[in-house]
Amino acid sequence: MMKVLVYGSGGRDHCLADKYGDSQHVDKVYFAPGNPGVLYTLKGRRGLIERVPTKDFKEIGDFCVEKEVDLVDVGSETPLGEGLIDVLNKRGIRTIGPKKEYVQLESDRAFTDDLLKKIGVPKPEYRVFDDPEAAKAYVRNIGYQVVVKANGLAAGKGAIVCEGVSDAETAINKIMVKKTFGESGNRVVIEERKYGTEISFFVYLDGIHAMPLRTFAHDYKPAFDPDDTEAIKKFGGNLNTGGTGCYCPHRDVSPWLVNRIIKEIVNPTVNAIYNDLGWAYKGVIYFGLNLDPYDQLDVFEINVRHGDPEWEVIARKLSTDLFEIGMAVWDGTLDTINQVWNKQHYVDVIAMEGRSKASKGWNKGYPGRYGKGHRINGLDKIEKGVMVYFAGVDDDPENGLFTYGGRVLHVIAGASTLEDAREKAYRNIDLISFEDHKNNGANCLRYRKTIGL
Ligand code: GLY
Repeated sequence: MMKVLVYGSGGRDHCLADKYGDSQHVDKVYFAPGNPGVLYTLKGRRGLIERVPTKDFKEIGDFCVEKEVDLVDVGSETPLGEGLIDVLNKRGIRTIGPKKEYVQLESDRAFTDDLLKKIGVPKPEYRVFDDPEAAKAYVRNIGYQVVVKANGLAAGKGAIVCEGVSDAETAINKIMVKKTFGESGNRVVIEERKYGTEISFFVYLDGIHAMPLRTFAHDYKPAFDPDDTEAIKKFGGNLNTGGTGCYCPHRDVSPWLVNRIIKEIVNPTVNAIYNDLGWAYKGVIYFGLNLDPYDQLDVFEINVRHGDPEWEVIARKLSTDLFEIGMAVWDGTLDTINQVWNKQHYVDVIAMEGRSKASKGWNKGYPGRYGKGHRINGLDKIEKGVMVYFAGVDDDPENGLFTYGGRVLHVIAGASTLEDAREKAYRNIDLISFEDHKNNGANCLRYRKTIGL
């Protein structure tokens, strides 16, 4: 039997650990630095998933050698960008995930936009700026609506969708002057705003072949439901998040559209990665796409890992053994993998930290300033078959699990129709509460009500 180590701590990483735990080949999944939430799940209690609470790359390498770990999967862009794959490969450890150099596909938006433009992959009009005043002059001049994006990594939150010119100027100030997303805002990409439906699409690469996953997901990025005008006003706008929920399969993706996406977008991009850049990329590429009302497809982002929360629903639908996919990525044999999907629909609703009482005044909640330390109640009431993946949580021996991040946990339900999956996910998230100890125990859990609609 095999041992896998998943590096990460969020919902996507918990889901990866869980999915490897389902493999017929695997009897141990190490989760580093992991998430205390796994100890509140069956696989955690049984020791199939075991937490290794270190972030140190050398210690991870030592641990993998000592425990004879067969495969390491790195879930998120930050450790990938810090070179964890390079460190582990030097020690002869098998991995899934791109080397540090290849992470620029996500960490340098301007680099990727220029690459896509050069090879004719459709994407919205864009311009890159290092100077905030030049960026503002540009948005005043073009007049149409834009999205202002921090060029570097920003935990999925660095894109601000703007209504008009003054909105865009505010966004430029926020990213480039106030540095809300840190150094990643030294440069911005200003992109034409697109309307339509968002499609998230993953492709596994093994350095030779590409295996596009044939199930697509729909992510919901704005923090609030569009008609939740009172909450949006109180919050000061409907900011984008890393994702507030998701469903799959995507209702607007038909087999002909899959073919179009592979032909027009995936194949030229993979060809450019392998042949123009000369990169033997092993891992996942995530295409964030927009399909507009006139059937125009555009790539609005490429990332070097699974989407979060998209992976949480796609993994539930995938019946192929993940360890077999992982080994094929490492061995360069993805062409031998048979994709098997179950027939269910899945919905993931994320429980976020909402408005809570602060020492002075109020916390607005994710993606703004949020409180921590709110006891998580109701997990024992969740129905069998409904998955909970943990993200921003911590625990203590006396009080059990408490909130420790903005996106706290994911509730994922499956059913034979999207409507039933939705109903089940919402029925179960309603069993959970975050106890605001500074506000008479009021529930400060917030979630969007329109996921899957
Ligand atoms: N859900 C968006 C992302 O993972 O970046």
